[in-house]
Amino acid sequence: MRVGYFQFDPVFGEVTRNLDLVTDRVSEAQCDLLVLPELFASGYQFVAEQEVEALAEPIPDGPTTHRLLEIARRQQCHLVAGLPERHQGRCYNSAVLVGPGGVVGVYRKAHLFFEETLFFAPGDTGFLVWDIGPAKVGVMICFDWFYPESARTLALKGAEILCHPSNLVLPHCPDAMVTRCLENRLFSVTANRIGSEERGGKERLTFIGSSEIVTPKGRILHRAARDQEELTVLEIDPGEARNKTLTRYNDLLRDRRPGLYE
Ligand code: ACM
Repeated sequence: MRVGYFQFDPVFGEVTRNLDLVTDRVSEAQCDLLVLPELFASGYQFVAEQEVEALAEPIPDGPTTHRLLEIARRQQCHLVAGLPERHQGRCYNSAVLVGPGGVVGVYRKAHLFFEETLFFAPGDTGFLVWDIGPAKVGVMICFDWFYPESARTLALKGAEILCHPSNLVLPHCPDAMVTRCLENRLFSVTANRIGSEERGGKERLTFIGSSEIVTPKGRILHRAARDQEELTVLEIDPGEARNKTLTRYNDLLRDRRPGLYE
């Protein structure tokens, strides 16, 4: 299975420009699953509710999902990508999974970071896993990494690949995802952005790039630079995530002690 990410520098509010850039850059990618960053076409640093309302889109009937569907159909692949979603009068920091046959699912970010809490409603979908044929994929967004329950819940639901659209500003996530993969025996594809935003007199946010693909044994197959646009696609065997045997005596999920965790 060929999986990858596209790391780039979106321009805030320039949705068409960002969608055109992504469409152009990924047009040569031969992959089964491609992950794009959190809020990849809108930009990240919202400073007013009206901005979120103006840029949030319904799924599937918004320009971002339409474009993702075009790419998925043309390139016969699945994509996971972050966008501001408008749903029943609320705005969510969401990620959509699309494939050649249409929208497969939507995840709404559970753990909002910093000023996202001012502009987005906390996600209400829970952590979801979808079977896309070659693998079962689960979705978490950026700061969800800080809560190991996110990845563990996805592992318990059968995820083999964590798709992780991100706009990381804190330094520790790329290393932490090695542990998330090890402790759950699954792959991760973190798609982060690069560049910075400084809007509305707020503090400058500098995004750390370093998108990466990590194996169930915690090996970083590839980590991108902190500040370069980069499309990476690699071959993996999702079957490696199905074997949860750690030793002759230890099975990762079977040996959990949930009664002791409360
Ligand atoms: C983040 O959750 N965007 C850091």
